[in-house]
Amino acid sequence: MRRQSVAATALWIVGSALKTAAANPIQSAVAATLCRRTPKTKLMTERIFNFSAGPAVLPIPVLEEARAHLLALPGVGMSVIEISHRSKTFDEIIQGAETGLRDLLSIPKNYAVLFLQGGASLQFTMVPMNFLSLDENADYILTGSWGKKAIKEAQKCGEVNLGADMSDGGFTRVPTQEELQLGDDARYVHITSNETIEGVQWKSEPDTGDVPLFSDSSSDILSRPIPIEKYGLIYAGAQKNMGPSGVTLVIIREDLLPHIPKGKPTMLDYRTHVEHKSLYNTPNTWGIYIINLVCKWLKEKGGLEAMQQENEAKAKLIYDAIDATDFYRGHADPDSRSIMNVTFHLPSEDLEKKFASEATAAGMDGLKGHRSVGGIRASIYNAFPREGCEALVEFMKEFEKKNG
Ligand SMILES: Cc1ncc(COP(=O)(O)O)c(C=O)c1O
Repeated sequence: MRRQSVAATALWIVGSALKTAAANPIQSAVAATLCRRTPKTKLMTERIFNFSAGPAVLPIPVLEEARAHLLALPGVGMSVIEISHRSKTFDEIIQGAETGLRDLLSIPKNYAVLFLQGGASLQFTMVPMNFLSLDENADYILTGSWGKKAIKEAQKCGEVNLGADMSDGGFTRVPTQEELQLGDDARYVHITSNETIEGVQWKSEPDTGDVPLFSDSSSDILSRPIPIEKYGLIYAGAQKNMGPSGVTLVIIREDLLPHIPKGKPTMLDYRTHVEHKSLYNTPNTWGIYIINLVCKWLKEKGGLEAMQQENEAKAKLIYDAIDATDFYRGHADPDSRSIMNVTFHLPSEDLEKKFASEATAAGMDGLKGHRSVGGIRASIYNAFPREGCEALVEFMKEFEKKNG
């Protein structure tokens, strides 16, 4: 009986998708994608193209496995959110997540991998709290809105020098090596590898000499291979490319740990979490479980080189559409364009509003730019399908025809 009603729902979804397809070429692209995917997955879930900047789209096989095992992990008889974080089962899960990340990112042995809470925003505080004192300074390279927030917190702990300030022109690019003004006595140099709001991304690491490089990599971690050995510390909220919100990855070079002054609050001292392997207190067990599944999915997809190729190809589709006309205007300079967050403007704010709301109606959600900068932002993280980029390009062409 139940099976029948699910099948009927599935048929209804296909039917309405096809009906709408006949009336609207953009929805046709969405409907075609819906139909192309495995019937078992797509037809019963009615997923749309989710361009959200985060929390963001996760891989369908990951969601399916999580759903299948939500009531009971195989052989355990309990859900992952019901078992002890000290159990053997969870130990395997957290070790699986760590090993998965170590393999994918080629993290050397002398780096610790931590799963913390408090989001990347807590790292804005924790980083300077551990590595900067009132009589010391750190270099922050400012390339966008998230970097600004990181700086505000660091200024409460010590002196912040701007290694470069790219706010002129509204953060459209990262600085060249020649433009950097880095101090020899800086405790660390901080960058935001991908500015999620402005869509500005570093294509390679700045040379910081002997000064450790720290990065907020929240919105491009796992989107491409990175040379971890060039970094002292990397932090990233999980909710774009790794899993759900509520778990934050920190990768930290262990020789930095002895430099942390004693007496820091226990939970805000990196050493606590290194010593207890992220299990000092109850971690986000669900989040770590999903990260483990995402790592397995990434390996099956061919790892980070394959992911980078796919991400570049997806981003190119949209950037090419922007460059093909004067109607759309890309925000970032071509050399600094993000392959994760594609940002652009239309001739007026009214048109941008119309674009975002008509796109939502056509099955493409989350395209409205961040409230602080406006415009349109297409976030196309690892799990975002290429078909969604193609559908957006079609939509852009149609929208220009009607409104240009
Ligand atoms: C680059 C970057 N840094 C920091 C943050 C803040 O992350 P959280 O909300 O996990 O604190 C975000 C959130 O979108 C981000 O994109």
